[in-house]
This record gives sequence, C-alpha cells and structure tokens, in this order.
Amino acid sequence: MEINLISDTVTKPTKGMMEAMMHAEVGDDVFKKDPSVNALEDKVASMFGKEAALFFPSGTMANQTGIKLHTNPGDQLICDKFSHVFNYEGGGVSFNSGVSCRLVDGHRGMMTADQVEAAINPPDFYHSPLTSLVSIENTTNKGGGACWDYEELKRIKSICEKHGLAYHLDGARLWNALVAENETPEQYGALFDTISVCLSKGLGCPVGSVLIGNRILIEKALRVRKILGGGMRQSGFLAAAGIYALDHHLERLSEDHLKAKEIGVVLKSLSFIKSVERIETNIIIFEIHEDKMSGSRFVEKLAENNVHIIGMGQGKLRIVTHLDYTDDMHERFLKILKAL
Ligand SMILES: Cc1ncc(COP(=O)(O)O)c(C=O)c1O
Repeated sequence: MEINLISDTVTKPTKGMMEAMMHAEVGDDVFKKDPSVNALEDKVASMFGKEAALFFPSGTMANQTGIKLHTNPGDQLICDKFSHVFNYEGGGVSFNSGVSCRLVDGHRGMMTADQVEAAINPPDFYHSPLTSLVSIENTTNKGGGACWDYEELKRIKSICEKHGLAYHLDGARLWNALVAENETPEQYGALFDTISVCLSKGLGCPVGSVLIGNRILIEKALRVRKILGGGMRQSGFLAAAGIYALDHHLERLSEDHLKAKEIGVVLKSLSFIKSVERIETNIIIFEIHEDKMSGSRFVEKLAENNVHIIGMGQGKLRIVTHLDYTDDMHERFLKILKAL
C-alpha cells in the first residue's frame, strides 16, 4: 500500500465525484456558455456573499490574476516572507504584473497589522515603489497550515482602508481554516477585495481554483485570465467536480486535521525528532535532530516503507493529510513511525 503524504494535491476523484463529472452539462466556457461552470461560479460567489466569481485552472493563475487586478507595473505588494505568491509562483508577480514584494518577517507566515503598516512606502516619496496591495495566505502553507486570527485580519483591513490599499487573500486552503476555526466564507468575503480558493487541494478535485470579487473586478479578471491563456472550453466537467466537492468534502476536512494531530503526537514521542510545529489543520512541519539522523535519511527510511513525504528546505520536513489518506493507511503509518 503506497502512502503519499507529500501534499493534499495528490488525491484522485472519488466515485461520487466521477459520477458528477460524467453527468455534467457542458458548453463552451470561453463564450460563458458552460452551465456547470456558471453554476460553480454562482455557488462560490454566493457562499462568500460576493457579486461574482471566475473559475481558473490553477491557484497560481487565480492569485496572479488577483495581483494583476490591484497593481500597476512598478508597484509593490506587501506579503509575509513565507507567502506562496512570493516563493512558489515562479516569480509571477514580477513577470505578470511588474511588481515587487515587500517581505514582512512574520510568524508562521502571518503578519501583524503593525508590521503591515510599517511596510507601506510613503505614497508621496516617489523614489520608492508605490505600495498598492496587501496579500495574505490562510491557511499558511510554508507556515505549517496555521490559521490567522480573524481579528488581526480585520485590523489589517483597517490599515488597507486607511492607506487606500487593495486586500487579496490566497485562500488555497481557506476551507481548512473555516473548518478548524468554525468560521464562515461570508466573514472572509466581507474583508477582502479578492479571494482565491483551490478545489484541487483538501477538497479533492483533479483541477480548479476560483477567484472571487465584485462584478467589476471579475469582469477585468476574465480578460486577464484570457491573456494568461486560462480560458477553457468544456470545463464544466471540472466545475462539476468542484460543486460535488463543496457539497460533500468540506465538513470532512476535520478528519484530516485529526489525523494530522495524531501523527504529531507520535512524531513528538520519537527521540530523533527535534521539534514539531503546532498542528492546526492538515499540514505538519517538523525537524530532525541532525546528529541522530539526517532529514534525508528519515525521508529515505519512510520511502523504503512506501511512505512519501517531502522536505521544505532549511532542515524542515512536511507531511500533509488528505482525502485519499485512509484510516487503514493512517494506522499503518503510525505503526511504521513508531518502529523507526
Ligand atoms: C498557499 C498556496 N497558494 C497557491 C497555490 C497554488 O496552487 P496551484 O498549485 O493550483 O497553482 C498553492 C499550491 O500548493 C498553495 O499552497
């Protein structure tokens, strides 16, 4: 039995999801004539209490479009040093939007409102890039699945309003935060100008992300998506998977969170594990005592047992639980860990 814990993106569609995909009513979405895509976009927009939404092939393209909407070339956006938009989108912020990132030294991928305010360049000081956007990530990926304090997000919103900055949320794993913190999508819709959410991570879809905003922004996003080559045709087959996932796979994320916490307990009991970061959702980040066993040897030993995890750089390792990580796999993995 292969146990793949490198990411929550490794899932394959369930039987129910496949059924939903096979029975999807489709049309040409570039002409906005795909009823399943339209239904998904309406559903997601209304979940967040926003006017409109747009289906994207990837979270990267949805984030990059969000950034493009709020900035002009030469501008600067503020984000945490761990941000996906800065670290893992291929330099897209500069390639697509011609903007730079002002990195904030936050905690587990999260900044305070005071840090954000201190990072804003004075708008009349024309020597510095013009700050136009604040981008945050919830849950944080490199920060180990950490969930933001909603009150801090509200304080950052006030800073954005005070300084006339746009506010974007990379919500690739917002679903996990909503379930873990017992929050609602409307709470997030009320704060952010644009939100990207992924369907192909914890929710188990093969492909797909959605960008949410007001009507004017999403109309502009349609053009940006076209320019980026993200216009898809009978993408209703994929959108149907998204609708199915929102109806069937949201609440169960708490199971992934519980399994992650149980893995954390076992990791902490092992003498060669140096530290395990606080586990709030489905991501576990931990470090090995390098004098007892190297991180790469630990990864190899797991691979010998057909268990796969990855390194995150700087000696950190990552495990991610997901829909395809079954109870049997969990039991087996805990046994393997204890025997190492
Ligand atoms: C926080 C975060 N944002 C955005 C993305 C990008 O999503 P995609 O891989 O669909 O482009 C990821 C992917 O892992 C992510 O973890």
